[in-house]
Amino acid sequence: MGAAFLAIGAVAITAALLLGIGGAFIVLGATGAIVAGVLVIVAVVIGGVVVAVRPPGLPRGANGWIVAMGGALGLVLFMVVGVLVAGKAAGHYSWTMERLFRTVPEQPIDFPHPAHVRVAGIDCVFCHSSVDSEPMASVPPVEQCMFCHQVVGKDLPGVQQVIEAWQAGETIQWARVHRLPDHVRFVHEAHINYFTAKDSVPASAVCTLCHGEVGTMVQVEQVEDLRMGFCVDCHRDNDAPTDCTTCHY
Ligand code: HEC
Ligand code: HEC
Ligand code: HEC
Ligand code: HEC
Ligand code: HEC
Repeated sequence: MGAAFLAIGAVAITAALLLGIGGAFIVLGATGAIVAGVLVIVAVVIGGVVVAVRPPGLPRGANGWIVAMGGALGLVLFMVVGVLVAGKAAGHYSWTMERLFRTVPEQPIDFPHPAHVRVAGIDCVFCHSSVDSEPMASVPPVEQCMFCHQVVGKDLPGVQQVIEAWQAGETIQWARVHRLPDHVRFVHEAHINYFTAKDSVPASAVCTLCHGEVGTMVQVEQVEDLRMGFCVDCHRDNDAPTDCTTCHY
């Protein structure tokens, strides 16, 4: 009985380890595989401690190792899954929790603002064309990129990705960087028009109030917290409405 138990246990644990690390690599990339590897080491250490302490009932020798390792792996995975599921579930109900889990999102193509804004001198509103006329700023469709990229930068790998998407008739699925919770209403147009008139500046000078210097960001990040206090403070300073229904549905 001992030998069969040992063989099946060893195979099962090895298979679980390889599946776990391989799965982490596929789903989360190299970093995920490293994290999975570290978790396995933690589990082995816990297993080792359990074997060394040898609680009553734990078999001796290799069998003891397998039972301890299986238990430790299960415990570590349970804790990790528990933290992720609890966080996700809380994030579903709370924007604050969701933000804790949010990082700068991966974009399908590395789109550098500096090359366009600083070097090529293109205005924000040329690309985010509805920003001064509609609630949403909008991101240009790939056709608009081709306006320049049929000619400009055709040998750059990023531009080749853009050309491929256009030739395949695909839309580029840009990941959202800024997003307010669903119960909040935001309108770009009113803000842009108010501040361009008040300060006699072009629209592109207004964006910095809430987005920082996007023209210098190789990858767009959120720089303001966009919490209610941030909105309401500025509304007070500018005699803009602060009643709840202005911003909440
Ligand atoms: C008005 C012209 C213009 C438009 C419109 C335009 N670009 Fe560009 N883009 C440029 C110029 C100029 C460069 C710099 C080329 C160089 O460095 O040789 C560039 C560079 C790039 C690069 C390569 C950056 C690098 O250094 O590797 C990518 C990727 C890119 N653009 C994507 C886009 C996408 C996506 C769109 C549409 C949302 C777009 N561009 C719209 C002019 C434009
Ligand atoms: C050549 C077109 C182009 C120009 C010019 C441009 N953008 Fe963008 N912008 C994009 C594209 C494409 C994205 C989506 C990819 C990304 O987030 O990097 C984007 C994303 C953004 C985002 C993030 C949107 C989100 O998901 O929350 C902000 C904010 C932004 N741009 C602001 C600006 C500002 C401010 C300027 C002027 C200083 C500017 N952009 C100039 C094309 C452009
Ligand atoms: C008063 C603050 C404020 C100003 C000024 C502002 N934005 Fe935004 N922007 C936001 C907020 C808040 C969001 C997220 C909106 C949401 O989730 O509904 C956003 C989202 C965006 C997005 C992604 C979603 C969309 O609307 O298409 C882009 C692109 C963008 N802004 C570009 C710009 C540009 C370009 C300017 C300047 C011309 C600008 N913004 C000025 C606050 C601002
Ligand atoms: C930099 C200052 C500033 C910030 C930051 C700001 N606002 Fe405003 N907002 C204003 C001003 C000024 C007005 C009034 C514009 C007018 O009178 O046309 C306004 C108007 C509005 C309106 C009414 C638009 C309409 O005409 O229907 C909404 C909704 C709104 N803001 C939401 C927000 C939200 C949500 C945030 C935070 C994410 C925010 N604002 C951040 C200055 C700001
Ligand atoms: C100028 C815009 C603005 C006004 C006015 C405003 N809110 Fe908000 N509110 C926001 C934004 C943006 C958020 C989301 C960010 C956050 O949670 O701070 C929010 C979030 C909230 C939340 C959720 C908080 C959380 O942690 O999930 C509540 C509740 C709320 N607001 C109530 C109110 C009440 C009540 C009023 C009127 C006294 C009001 N708001 C007026 C912009 C506004």
